[in-house]
Amino acid sequence: MRVRNAFQRIKDAMPDREFRVFATADIGDAAFRRLRERGYEIEVYPNPEPPPKNLIVEKVRSGIDALITTLRDKIDAEVFEAGQGTLKAVAQYGVGFDNINRADANRYQIPFTNTADVLTEATAEFAFFALADLARKLWSAEHLVRQNKWGYWHPYLPFLGDEVTGKTMGVLGTGRIGQAFIKKCVGFDMNILCYEALRPNDKLVADVQQQMDLLFACGMQRERTAIRYVSMEEALRDSDFISIHVPLLREGENNTPTYHLINERTLQMMKATAYLVNTSRGPVVDEKALAKALKEKWIAGAALDVYETEPLPPDSPLRDPEIEDRCRLYPHFASAARITRLSLDPALGMAGRCAQGLIDMLEQNYGGDLTKMPYVVNKEAFRTGGS
Ligand code: GLV
Repeated sequence: MRVRNAFQRIKDAMPDREFRVFATADIGDAAFRRLRERGYEIEVYPNPEPPPKNLIVEKVRSGIDALITTLRDKIDAEVFEAGQGTLKAVAQYGVGFDNINRADANRYQIPFTNTADVLTEATAEFAFFALADLARKLWSAEHLVRQNKWGYWHPYLPFLGDEVTGKTMGVLGTGRIGQAFIKKCVGFDMNILCYEALRPNDKLVADVQQQMDLLFACGMQRERTAIRYVSMEEALRDSDFISIHVPLLREGENNTPTYHLINERTLQMMKATAYLVNTSRGPVVDEKALAKALKEKWIAGAALDVYETEPLPPDSPLRDPEIEDRCRLYPHFASAARITRLSLDPALGMAGRCAQGLIDMLEQNYGGDLTKMPYVVNKEAFRTGGS
């Protein structure tokens, strides 16, 4: 162990070579300091807006070793082609990576990392808070006060919200964020209907049910509650709230695409009193259909953090003042919490995890075996015999 630590210190002090990295966004001083201390030459795109694609291509063509990217940057064959022979890695600051063409990365044998796990709880709690904002009309209530329209206290005027506690939650997608969201629902004594297209997690359901039974048995919960997997139709039909936690999978990319999973047909399956929350990816919801559903009151409300086009265009039907009181709109903000975004600890922060992923790839940690590096996404490209 002592020998290994000494070796690590030498390696830290004298990196084999200077790596050149272009970051398309500022991911915080701490992360860049960490990389610069290791001898990396870092160039950061100076503006808060994303760089144009041709600038990214130009930087890659100039011979950089790696890119730090965000969900705003389209990384595809054009970028990988420009980096042939020089580009070694892409470190994505974010859990979603639908901006990176995985097949192209594989074709050019470029590994890319993401920052899964560290934003799980932040995103799940945000989804729950968005749901609270929507159901209890927090936005409308504050407006009432700010616009000096709060003239009296009244049993039901000017409006009432809907309770969350004790209701039924439909969770579409039970991966990491879906599971964290389910934990929040348990604290609100909710029944939970889960939908999962690929691999239902029976252990999750059994464990959560045990927790629910315990809360009931010790008198901390008035009613007995239950969790189970159901079909998507059943989740939509029987839930008071629907929260979406699926990845974006387009037609042809997967046997169970999620593009426009929520559309006119599926919105019509929901209860007229139900609310929809989307913190996953915008194109999972057909926004035109949703605006129609809200206008015609097929459902009671929706809260969105992600959109088909980001930022939300000025002429989006979701901005219709007629649906303003039941449509909450946030700026892709779910992971936007201080520690989650900026902590240098790879177990806590996206910045730390992004920097560590980059270091692992460039410095060939794990014996240089990309399939063993925990944050590498496209491991399949590097398995012997992999495509
Ligand atoms: C945010 O949406 C992310 O993918 O990290």
